Amino acid sequence: MSIATTRLNEVRTEVHISHMLNPLLDASIAQLLHSQPDKLLELVAQHGSPLNLVWPHAFALNTCALQSVLEQHEVQYSIFYGAKANKSHCLLEAAKASGIGVDVSSIYEMRAALRAGVPADQLCATGPAKTQDFHRALVHAGALICVDSLEEFDHLKTLLETRVEATKARVLLRYRPKSCATSRFGMGPSDLLVCLHLLTRFRAFIDFEGFHFHLGGYGFDSRAQAFREVADFIDAAREMGLNPSMIDIGGGLPIRYIEPQAYERFLQNDNTPSHYYNQSVPKSYYPYGSNLTASQWLTLFLESSFSPRQSIAQYLKANRIILALEPGRSLVDQAAISVFRITRSKKLANNKTVLFVEGSSFSACETWFASEYLVDPILISTAPTSATPMQAYIAGHSCLDDDVITQRLINFTVSPKAGDLLIYANTAGYQMDLLENEFHRHPLPRRMVATCCTQGNYAFSPDY
Ligand SMILES: Cc1ncc(COP(=O)(O)O)c(C=O)c1O
Repeated sequence: MSIATTRLNEVRTEVHISHMLNPLLDASIAQLLHSQPDKLLELVAQHGSPLNLVWPHAFALNTCALQSVLEQHEVQYSIFYGAKANKSHCLLEAAKASGIGVDVSSIYEMRAALRAGVPADQLCATGPAKTQDFHRALVHAGALICVDSLEEFDHLKTLLETRVEATKARVLLRYRPKSCATSRFGMGPSDLLVCLHLLTRFRAFIDFEGFHFHLGGYGFDSRAQAFREVADFIDAAREMGLNPSMIDIGGGLPIRYIEPQAYERFLQNDNTPSHYYNQSVPKSYYPYGSNLTASQWLTLFLESSFSPRQSIAQYLKANRIILALEPGRSLVDQAAISVFRITRSKKLANNKTVLFVEGSSFSACETWFASEYLVDPILISTAPTSATPMQAYIAGHSCLDDDVITQRLINFTVSPKAGDLLIYANTAGYQMDLLENEFHRHPLPRRMVATCCTQGNYAFSPDY
């Protein structure tokens, strides 16, 4: 389906959106695609392919949506943006502008967040492998530290005992929920209790603020279960004279890339080996057509029962507990698109077609996880186009047969050709720059920040 036609130096530019896994688009991005597809050709000509265009206004909208759910439920909250989801500086600035904190997993993420102006006491450090330099910087800055293990507790204690400055460490203890008993993250009940006892002895060094957990998957109910489990330790800590005031439930709020019905239809009818170049259907995917938005997920979490007579929201209020969240992907929903320029279309011996683009699977990385990005790219073609529909899988400049952007055979309503663009929508969450590198010495893809200057017109500047 062609949604727009414009003229650039007498060349007709057309936008073709797929019928199958048609991406949901933010209104501003859709507007740019509809009214100025040639702008994207210009930007790629100037800045190279692939090109990541980042839209910080989406971050602000996503944050507001979660805040309004939390406020409707009248709970005290802290939101820490999971900075691991995307490397754009402008999204850290968006976190600062929204007044939320940042979840940092390395000293480098910490420095970047501070450079963006996020106050140090609104940083929360997660991850089990913190270095001594990272610990030292976190303590010095007054940031919150999620202690992952007895071993980490010991390292932190040693550092604090030998410190010269009087600053105390602010600490959450990471709980390992029963549902992930063999995970390498967090502590089980006995280690948690040992830490609580230690904390009663180290009040001079450590301010204990509460508990943290993060779970894989995207269910609100698994978080509600882990929340009920960890709440027992709030009671235990209070009985020991400690004063926990926060439960941090980590991230994992879902985002919706595709309309749920279209996604379900695809899974039911079209997700067969014949739709993949390698004839193999991946075993697992992100739930691209999530039934819940992040706000609905959060509502269901807050309204889950804590006990037969109390919801989680009621428990939080009654016990003066701050609910902390560390959303990564869900705060960057619709915050970027990735634009690839097609270099060539090649017919293979089995009569299938491959489209080569400038770029690689490192900039659209799900095949690296034996999975697929189940969102169809949008084709911007510089006509004249052959109106013949065709199917192709998409590869970049990598030298391995299986290292491709998608094994899935994408249906195109017209035949793409050299110079046309493929737009991957909604790539900000762990997609566009998670694995990028300089393979074959191709420079790293550029990131450009979109800012609205006049009604519907965007200016793009480099993201540093
Ligand atoms: C501790 C922690 N917090 C938050 C996140 C962010 O998760 P998501 O992007 O799914 O919201 C992660 C992701 O792995 C994490 O490990």
